[in-house]
Amino acid sequence: MSQRRLFVTTALPYANGNFHIGHIMEYIQADIWVRFQRMQGHAVNFVGADDAHGAPIMIAAEKAGKTPQQFVADIAAGRKPYLDGFHISFDNWHSTDAPENHQLAQQIYRDLKKAGLISTKTIEQFFDAEKNMFLPDRFIKGQCPKCGAKDQYGDNCEVCGAVYAPTDLINPYSALSGATPVLKSSEHFFFRLSDPRCVEFLEQWTQDGKLQPEVANKVKEWFSVRDNADGTQSEGLGDWDISRDAPYFGIEIPDAPGKYFYVWLDAPVGYLASLKNLLDKRGEDYAAYMADPALEQYHFIGKDIVTFHTLFWPAMLHFSGRKTPDNVFVHGFLTVNNGEKMSKSRGTGLDPLKYLSLGMNPEWLRYYLAAKLNARNEDIDFNADDFMARVNSDLVGKYINIASRAAGFIAKRFAGRLGEISADGDALLSVLRDQSDTITQLYEFREFAKALREVMLLADRVNAYVDQNKPWELAKKEGMDTRLQDVCTVCIEAFRLLTIYLKPVLPALGAQVENFLKTAPLGFADAAVLLGSGHLIGDYAHLMQRVDIKQLDALFEPPAQAEQAPTAIESIAPGGEEMAPVITIDDFSKIDLRIARIVNCEAVEGSTKLLRLTLDVGEATLRNVFSGIASAYKPEDLIGKHTVMVANLAPRKMKFGISEGMVLAASHANEKAQPGIFVLEPLPGAQPGMRVR
Ligand code: 2FM
Ligand code: ZN
Repeated sequence: MSQRRLFVTTALPYANGNFHIGHIMEYIQADIWVRFQRMQGHAVNFVGADDAHGAPIMIAAEKAGKTPQQFVADIAAGRKPYLDGFHISFDNWHSTDAPENHQLAQQIYRDLKKAGLISTKTIEQFFDAEKNMFLPDRFIKGQCPKCGAKDQYGDNCEVCGAVYAPTDLINPYSALSGATPVLKSSEHFFFRLSDPRCVEFLEQWTQDGKLQPEVANKVKEWFSVRDNADGTQSEGLGDWDISRDAPYFGIEIPDAPGKYFYVWLDAPVGYLASLKNLLDKRGEDYAAYMADPALEQYHFIGKDIVTFHTLFWPAMLHFSGRKTPDNVFVHGFLTVNNGEKMSKSRGTGLDPLKYLSLGMNPEWLRYYLAAKLNARNEDIDFNADDFMARVNSDLVGKYINIASRAAGFIAKRFAGRLGEISADGDALLSVLRDQSDTITQLYEFREFAKALREVMLLADRVNAYVDQNKPWELAKKEGMDTRLQDVCTVCIEAFRLLTIYLKPVLPALGAQVENFLKTAPLGFADAAVLLGSGHLIGDYAHLMQRVDIKQLDALFEPPAQAEQAPTAIESIAPGGEEMAPVITIDDFSKIDLRIARIVNCEAVEGSTKLLRLTLDVGEATLRNVFSGIASAYKPEDLIGKHTVMVANLAPRKMKFGISEGMVLAASHANEKAQPGIFVLEPLPGAQPGMRVR
């Protein structure tokens, strides 16, 4: 097959919080598909970006005392540990606030305007006179007009489920200031989706068979005038309000001072902006790349944002004279242990960074999710018992086991050399090879669960072959050396084939296996060949541990009881606070941290907070340091212990004397929620004066 050119994205996450497991699932799904395509020899550009704009981010930034730019930059700085940690192979990560996106969004708008598809209309909206801004629906609250429930949002009631306009609320108030909002009119810009050209184009684009059937059916409903269950009538496609008034964190609308694009207008443009940024960095031509008629464009998204991707986005692209996506791949939500849906704002349940920090293998999760993912937009559940069973019995028990059963004999008895393939072995390997096309098709059509099921059935066949031939018995018998070498060779060759089939899901393991088998990076084409007789393999080192139930217990152990329900940011942020902005190694080296021995420690008369520490940091004289740890330690607990101090902090004059440094201690940002102060203590062997670096 000739080389395909693919441009692939995931949805762009809002830059207002860390990733939760729902994001990671989408990235893993897309990454498996991308790695599969690369292993087919195709050329893929896989990009992501932060979705930086919009009122909620602007308001969150203000609350955090930051500019929106600083706020989103701080969020962006926290992305890498997740993406690297779960082996997500984005070629680029960018931001919708980047210059490329400003230019592209404005150009697309100008092109749509030229096509006669932009109109303006004056509309009335709630305005917060104290904050001097129009209020997004989510920031207006009041009593439900239907059931009378208090404190409901401006767009729907969480008690009775009614859907309404914010102006229908009884006693509305601004969630920002508490003020009663007033109605104020302002001119808004609209993308005229109701234009017959748009309707005709979208009916064709959404119903030509490319979309998943359940997605196409849902989309179809939006075109027709219809009666709703509650007796109201919905119109067909309406015009789309694409402008917001200042103050707004977004992209300015050309020739319209004080007007900004609604975040959803410029968000998908961020796909193109990230791609352009990538190609520019590589010195490739973005316009030429996009002009290639063979280029295929795909977006992986969740089922909650289908409208934007199957109506607004293709229409924006088409009528601005651009290429439309070849498809949009919609997945369902992830629930955890049958729990609630992973909502965007409350990513509770399974914290991806906690997972990694517990030493859990990221490829367990990749394997487990792949084993549940299909091409439909069904929800899937992460179930801890199921996770452990599948990883331990299938992945390790069936697949990894094949290598561990054969490699030792090849190393010890045959100096690492593979032997001939016997006739029965060849028959087995043919079965494995013959599945290559089927497995390829399953990956291509995102039927990952089925693909892995096929692979595990093959692994069963290989294990049956091992059980029949019993290499451990052959090893003890006289004159069976050649047979032993053949059987083990078949196992190693089979293991290599299975590794090819699993490598889109298990890229790091794939690399380990390539290293062990002393072979170049494996692609699907390599399934047609063998390592061959005489090939030298490396020493086998155990490739993958089993899941330990203790890890799962720790993963789902609820955080210490908070006094109040934490906010979204608090529950996601480690230790209750956002990571500080990134610093350079030079910044860090300005701080001189030293091991100190606590020679003496005593209470400070007149202070309930402080302890006075006398510290030996290897200098001629001892240091006097006051530390606010009296609530956590008795003086005698600390005497004789080693700790870490900031040794080059300027001496500070305090009420009780001069403090010549600072001792390091850990605490949660919300001391009430998670009490305790914990002084750092080095592992045994560290001596006073040693630098900590
Ligand atoms: O729903 C969301 O999380 C949006 N930030 C997705 C945007 S996808 C694309 F359009 F940028
Ligand atoms: Zn209600």
